[in-house]
Amino acid sequence: MYDYDLLVVGSANADLVIGVERRPDAGETVLGSDLVVHPGGKGANQAVAAARLGARTALLARVGDDAHGRLLLDSQRAAGVDTAGVLVGGAPTGVALITVDPSGDNSIVVSPGANGRLTPDDVRAAGSLLQAARVVSAQLEIPLETVGEVVRSLAPDSRLVLNPSPPRPLPDEVLAACDPLILNEHEAKVILGEAYAGEKPEDWARLLLAKGPRSVVVTLGGEGALVASSEGVSRIPAVKVRAVDTTGAGDSFTAALAWRLGLGESLSDAAAYAARVGAATATREGAQVSFPTAQEVAAL
Ligand code: RIB
Repeated sequence: MYDYDLLVVGSANADLVIGVERRPDAGETVLGSDLVVHPGGKGANQAVAAARLGARTALLARVGDDAHGRLLLDSQRAAGVDTAGVLVGGAPTGVALITVDPSGDNSIVVSPGANGRLTPDDVRAAGSLLQAARVVSAQLEIPLETVGEVVRSLAPDSRLVLNPSPPRPLPDEVLAACDPLILNEHEAKVILGEAYAGEKPEDWARLLLAKGPRSVVVTLGGEGALVASSEGVSRIPAVKVRAVDTTGAGDSFTAALAWRLGLGESLSDAAAYAARVGAATATREGAQVSFPTAQEVAAL
């Protein structure tokens, strides 16, 4: 009945990546590796990750009419993503400046560029894409009003998966549509704001659920993840790997979770699968170039 297992509405960035021995403090200069340019952006990453796993995937995004935009479109098409919804022009393609340390942890600064020009009108104009998607996923590297319009444009039986990254307070209308809201500890603190309390991640998960989403997934890095819904809170164990670069691991986790939920899996089963996908991603450098196929996930 649906043409797409997943429609991703979100950002596309050129990732300018430098490896460093340690990330610099304020006012400090450090030397790093040669610069590498990878296709990235949380939205574009989710689309490639889902398509590589075998999901019928489309992307609604905006890139600049420039070399970075072409790099991103090429990466989407090579993965099999339908790019009919990718708009071109209006501003330079988004750029992410990324440093990665030897533990695989990163720091990222994003210049949104064209991502910031993906408007509610663009969402309304892509109504047929939204009506054709079983699951829609979004993040917050695009304007919040645009995400609000996505919520209002969902097909009656489709499902919204939101990773509020980078985090900011969310309107009730958006929170109520999330099934699930997927976030890490840092994002949970921002979304909870003054409601943040309790030391255990289980406490945050319950507090987040009380803010209105239909379900919540809290990712905990090496500690796995928590899933929370009206059925309770349960923990998904971490999948242990030797991390080389965690860039994009959260995006491939979200994409895999969204896809498996659309196939009818339970939240716990979908999160357990997504944890394997995220772990496999961290074993290779870069974002989109590091996403596994379904065969590689099975072999992990
Ligand atoms: O989540 C990783 C992504 O965050 C990178 O690819 C970068 O572009 C930023 O959007």
